[in-house]
Amino acid sequence: MRPKDLQTKIFLDSGDPNETREAIKLLGFLDGQTTNPSLISKNPETAGKKFPKKELLEFYRQVVQEVSNLIPQGSVSVEVYADKNTTAEEMLEQGREMFSWIPNAHIKYPTTAAGLNAAHQSVQEGMRVNMTLCFSQQQAAAVYGATLRLADARSGQAKGQVFVSPFIGRLDDRGENGMDLIANIIRMYQNGDGHVEVLTASVRSLDHLIYAIHLGTDIVTAPLKVFMEWGEKGLLLPGGNFIYTVGKLKPIPYEELDLDKDWSAFDISHELTAAGIDRFASDWNSLLEA
Ligand code: E4P
Repeated sequence: MRPKDLQTKIFLDSGDPNETREAIKLLGFLDGQTTNPSLISKNPETAGKKFPKKELLEFYRQVVQEVSNLIPQGSVSVEVYADKNTTAEEMLEQGREMFSWIPNAHIKYPTTAAGLNAAHQSVQEGMRVNMTLCFSQQQAAAVYGATLRLADARSGQAKGQVFVSPFIGRLDDRGENGMDLIANIIRMYQNGDGHVEVLTASVRSLDHLIYAIHLGTDIVTAPLKVFMEWGEKGLLLPGGNFIYTVGKLKPIPYEELDLDKDWSAFDISHELTAAGIDRFASDWNSLLEA
């Protein structure tokens, strides 16, 4: 059952509906699920298989529909295919199609110029979006500006329409304290209108999960194995004396950024975003028939 004091929404990071069932059984609740091309390539049903392009997309649709039926009140993130040449228009076209698959979709676009342009248009059209592969505060500031719909934001109606997904594990992997990025984005968004929810992603450990909750992230997505550890600890919540062990990870300093600045003027380039796009594209392409 959801712990009484838990404000953060808990999502499963998986491309397998059987894991959705297990997570629901284990936790007694689940607020959503995030998928991506790499996770779909790890779905046991794709093992050793190659698909024609149309059938692979159909497989993804079926996975997403099954998950959506299991958590109809939740959110299910569905990611567009993007490589370094994919245009905003191509992403948007996929996004519109995927958004029609289920009633509770958030469309994942990469936090690049093309992805931000696709998101900007998507939000105007009333679609929900999740900006993925975010590795810097400047990228999060650009997400804020690109998805701002002033009228809705003022009335509070836009809450839940936009997520930004900072990837903490991949920053940790190269020696930077990914959790600092979560703290910095939350702090920066306190100067905003609250229309973007921070979704802590690329979670590798129970400590990541607990600390993300401690920092007040809106949402955290984690693999099933982390939920298993959490279950063993009785869905422990961070107490006031919780200490996150940083070890040798390098701190990521806070930047003073103006959220009202033209969003296209932020420096959104990041080598991990570029590498992440390549990896998602190659995992997806590995499932395609030659
Ligand atoms: C979820 O939205 C992300 O795609 C996922 O958490 C990435 O995790 P990874 O860095 O372990 O691949």
